[in-house]
This record gives sequence, structure tokens and C-alpha cells, in this order.
Amino acid sequence: MKLISTLLLLAAASPLALASSSPKNYIFFLPDGYGPASETFARDFANYKNNDTSKLPVDDLALGYVRTFASDTLVTDSAAAATAYACGIKTYNGAIGVDDNYMPYGSILEAAKLDGYKTALVVTSRITHASPAGFATHTYYRDLEGDIADQLVGYAHPLGRVVDIMMGGGRCFFLPSSDSDSCRDDDLNLWELAQTDYNWTMTTARESFDELRNGFSGDNLPFAFIPTLDHMAYEIDRDPIEEPSLTEMAITALNWLDRLTTNSTKGFFLFLEASRIDHAGHVHDPVGHLHDILEYNRAMEAVKQWIDEHPDTSLVSAADHECGGLTLGVPDYAWYPEILDVASSTPTVLVEKYEAVTESKNFTQGQLEELLDDIVFKPLGIFNVTDDEFDAAYAADDLAIYAGELLSARAGINWSTLGHTAVDITLFGYGKNTEKLVGNYENTEVGHFVTNQLGLNLKNVTALLQANETFVKAIGPDAESKKLLKRRLQEDHESMHAGVHKHKH
Ligand SMILES: *[C@@H]1O[C@H](CO)[C@@H](O)[C@H](O)[C@H]1NC(C)=O
Ligand SMILES: *[C@@H]1O[C@H](CO)[C@@H](O)[C@H](O)[C@H]1NC(C)=O
Ligand SMILES: *[C@@H]1O[C@H](CO)[C@@H](O)[C@H](O)[C@H]1NC(C)=O
Ligand SMILES: *[C@@H]1O[C@H](CO)[C@@H](O)[C@H](O)[C@H]1NC(C)=O
Ligand SMILES: *[C@@H]1O[C@H](CO)[C@@H](O)[C@H](O)[C@H]1NC(C)=O
Ligand SMILES: *[C@@H]1O[C@H](CO)[C@@H](O)[C@H](O)[C@H]1NC(C)=O
Ligand SMILES: *[C@@H]1O[C@H](CO)[C@@H](O)[C@H](O)[C@H]1NC(C)=O
Ligand SMILES: *[C@@H]1O[C@H](CO)[C@@H](O)[C@H](O)[C@H]1NC(C)=O
Ligand SMILES: [Zn+2]
Ligand SMILES: [Zn+2]
Repeated sequence: MKLISTLLLLAAASPLALASSSPKNYIFFLPDGYGPASETFARDFANYKNNDTSKLPVDDLALGYVRTFASDTLVTDSAAAATAYACGIKTYNGAIGVDDNYMPYGSILEAAKLDGYKTALVVTSRITHASPAGFATHTYYRDLEGDIADQLVGYAHPLGRVVDIMMGGGRCFFLPSSDSDSCRDDDLNLWELAQTDYNWTMTTARESFDELRNGFSGDNLPFAFIPTLDHMAYEIDRDPIEEPSLTEMAITALNWLDRLTTNSTKGFFLFLEASRIDHAGHVHDPVGHLHDILEYNRAMEAVKQWIDEHPDTSLVSAADHECGGLTLGVPDYAWYPEILDVASSTPTVLVEKYEAVTESKNFTQGQLEELLDDIVFKPLGIFNVTDDEFDAAYAADDLAIYAGELLSARAGINWSTLGHTAVDITLFGYGKNTEKLVGNYENTEVGHFVTNQLGLNLKNVTALLQANETFVKAIGPDAESKKLLKRRLQEDHESMHAGVHKHKH
């Protein structure tokens, strides 16, 4: 026994053994808001469709559980959770790459970049949203997405540009406030600046993505593909003429990163995110939730096969938290996946359609109900809406949430919160050494594991960041912002309780 552990220690200490026993490349794949119930939910639906009892692709990749609490609450948000994975520290909800004292901490992606790896962020939310932001930027509050965009590009990042490839939504945060599509507070044209000062190739058209030919073509780094102003579409609402799927983006990024690093001893770090499983959970939408989960599973399957062909690559995948408090079987002992088989759009998109039709014309209440039935309820697969339910729909704070809840009730499922929950989430992995992750871990420990596997040192990056006083001052709140931040987090909390559709993801 003693002999064996000594030998293991010697093997671990030898640089040669380290080189051959660690993967060259790492993929961190975050399914945002994907709790354990969500997996059963999607599997039951897939089994209904296929008339079988088979597993989902990710089922076989389960290794253990992740504990997710934030420093200020047991229920984390995406910002604190991303910071935990990326920087290996527990912090408060809303924090992007900073600790409780607003001090910046180095991330896996930044350390990888400084160490000669290629880096990429590929997501379906805005690229400036909390999860990708936590891997590559630093600021005291997640909503400062203009500042996050500045740092993503390299402008205002003390380490310069740390990202080589970006794919996702959120173009509005790159446009100057004088542009009607902008969501920036200032008139900086970051889209231009990225190209002129930082050599980014900034693209929006699906054809620009297709020209990468699954990653076997394309040379211009850094490269950004940002097809949408806001988030990319939910998978079921996606128009393939405009937007590729997450699976297509993931495989394109992998082939490209692999090609770029074939002659190098350093590989790549890729952050992938199925971002909108979470968004659907927040609005109690079983349709968006289901189809984004199925797409996450397709992407995981594709990544797994890619790793089979590239065994120098490892994958870790875990949600940041559960979302919505999904319950399968309400009121009792049954739920009906087949009810969810009708819808081919999310309630969000159908309600937008209904509002566009009804907003300018003066319809009678009877006409409105007929339109609501035809445009929203029937396409969702609800064919027997009662008068009371129509009344409740018009009284609801948020019609899309109401429609999602009505469909959920018909399917025998329910949601208990508009926010996240504290439940442990499932840890998945594939590839060299990931079997070492069997067990129950803090989210911070998962980050440390990936850091160590790539031979990175986050402390060195943290020291570099914290030595830049101008930067530290710029990303922290002043006295006024501190008060605002406190109030803001409190308001988010309260609006969640009031059921108002204005909450943090
Ligand atoms: C589902 O599979 C069972 C056998 O496992 C079979 O008896 C049944 O006919 C199938 N149903 C459909 C709709 O294909
Ligand atoms: C400090 O960070 C800023 C970005 O906020 C950067 O412009 C500046 O060059 C950095 N200073 C040093 C000394 O690295
Ligand atoms: C941009 O590319 C040019 C030409 O390849 C190079 O000289 C310059 O250093 C690059 N600038 C940055 C910020 O990487
Ligand atoms: C890798 O090396 C080969 C052979 O020298 C060369 O043809 C290829 O262009 C190199 N690839 C990159 C990405 O530098
Ligand atoms: C809408 O119709 C109602 C009754 O049918 C009428 O009282 C009201 O003035 C109309 N409003 C507009 C904006 O046309
Ligand atoms: C509507 O139909 C569903 C089946 O699709 C059924 O479970 C439900 O009880 C019905 N609801 C009402 C209010 O009739
Ligand atoms: C579903 O959950 C809500 C709380 O989100 C609760 O008010 C409602 O009673 C539940 N419905 C059923 C049928 O249990
Ligand atoms: C971290 O910094 C220390 C001290 O400056 C240095 O010896 C070490 O090589 C660095 N490690 C990495 C991985 O950069
Ligand atoms: Zn999240
Ligand atoms: Zn969320």
C-alpha cells in the first residue's frame, strides 16, 4: 500500500509523467440552469418520442455532484457560480471575477491565454452575459455589460486581449449609444474599435460562420461571430438561415482551435455554454427548457465523439445551479410528456406574435380571447382553455409566464420559483483523468481541478490583475454604486417574490 502511494507521488512529480498524463486541451461546458429534474424531464420526453427507455447522451457521463452556494446566499446566481468555476473563489451574487471586496481574481481562461493556449467563448446568450463574463472579465456587477464587452475585446482589460474566438449573441453592447440598436451607456463604437485597434474579425452573418467550414477553414484570429443583438434564439425558435445551432458552433470552434494548436505543445481552453436552459426555467417555459436541454445533449454527444478522435482533450460539464424548481408529477403520481409534443415555438415568441397582432387594433374582448387561443394556446398544445383561465391570463403580470404555467399544469409538472434553487447539480466529464472527479465537490474545486490539469497558476494572474491599481479602481463600485448595488440585489430578490418578470438569471 505504502509502496504504491510513493510510486504514485513520484509519477505525479515527474514533469515527463505530467506532460503525458494531463490532457493538452480542456473544454468546460456549462448548461446554465440545468438541474437534476431537468435531466429526467428531457429523458422522459425523449423516451416518449422514441417509445423506449433509453438514456440521454449525458446520462453516461455523470461523475458526481457539485455544491453551489455563493458567499452571500445559499442560492447562487450565474455570476457568482461562473466566478467560482473560473477563478476558484466563492463570491457574492452579481460578482464577475471579483471577490467580496471587489478585488479581481485570475481565471482559467486568462491563465491559459498567458501560458500560450488558445482560448474561446461559445455561448447562446449574449456573450457579455454572466457566465462567459465570469471566465474572461472582472467587474463588481454583472449588469455592466458594456464594460464587460470592453474587456472581452481587450480594450480595458489589464492583460490585453485574452479571448481568441467568441461566438454568441449580444451585439447591442458593442454598438455606440447613437445607434438605435445599442444598449450601451456611452457612444463608444466598440464594434469598430475591436477591428481597428485589436485586429478582431467581427461578423454577424450566418455565411461568415459557414465560411469557417466546420473549423477546417478560417485563419483570422481573433474572430467574433455575433449574429444577434440580444441573446441567440431558443433552440426551438431558431431560424437556421440566421443562426447555427450550439452543436455546430461547438464543433466548429473545436476543429479550428485544434488546427491552430497542432504544432504547439500548448493546446486550447474552450468555454461552451447552453445558456438558455436557464432563461426558460425563469419564465416557467417547459418548451424552451426541453428543447435547449435536448440541444445541450446533442452538443455533448458531438463533443464526446470529437474527444474520441482527439484523446488529448478532456471535458468537464456542470450547471451553475438549478433554475425554476421544476417538479415532475403534480398533483400526484403522473406527468405527461406527450402534452409537450405539440409546441414548435416557445410561449415567449408566441406571446410576442399575439402582442404584435393586437397592439394597434381595437379588438373586442371576445376577439382578443379568440386571437390568444389561436396564436398562443393552441400552438402550445392547449386546446381546452376555460373562461376562468382566460380571465387569469388577462390578469397575469406576464402573459408568457402564464401560458408556460398553463401548459406545465396540463403536462402534470410545476415550477416553485422564478429564480434558482440551492440543490446540488450533476457533474459530468469525459476524457483523460476526469474519472478523478467522481464524488461531491464545491464548484470552486471543479475550477481548481481544471486549472491543475492544464498546469496553470491562477495566483500569478491574480497578482498581475491586482497590481493594476487603475483597473482595480475602475471595476469596483464607488460609495454611491455600493448603495445602488445593495438596493439592486434587494430589488431583484423582491421582484422575484412578487412574481414580476424582472429578475436576474
Ligand atoms: C411501443 O413499443 C412497444 C413494445 O416495446 C410496442 O408494443 C408498441 O406498439 C409501441 N408503440 C408504438 C406507438 O409504436
Ligand atoms: C491597467 O489596466 C488598464 C485597463 O483597465 C490598462 O489600460 C493599463 O495598461 C494597465 N496598466 C498596467 C500598468 O498594466
Ligand atoms: C494587429 O495586427 C498587426 C499586423 O498583423 C500587428 O502588427 C499588430 O500588433 C496587431 N495588433 C494587436 C493589438 O494585436
Ligand atoms: C503546422 O506545421 C505544418 C508542417 O510544418 C504546417 O504545414 C502547418 O501549416 C502548421 N500549422 C499551423 C497552424 O501553424
Ligand atoms: C375601441 O372600441 C370601443 C368600443 O368598441 C370604443 O369605446 C373606443 O373608443 C375604441 N378605442 C379606440 C382607440 O378606437
Ligand atoms: C384539458 O385537457 C387536458 C388533456 O390535454 C386535461 O388533462 C385537462 O384536465 C383539461 N383541462 C380542462 C380544464 O378541461
Ligand atoms: C404550482 O406551484 C405554484 C407555486 O409556484 C403553486 O402556487 C401551485 O399551487 C402549484 N400547482 C399545483 C397544481 O400544485
Ligand atoms: C508563477 O509565478 C512564480 C513566481 O513569480 C513563478 O516562479 C512561476 O513559474 C509562475 N507559474 C506559472 C505557471 O506561471
Ligand atoms: Zn445561471
Ligand atoms: Zn438564471
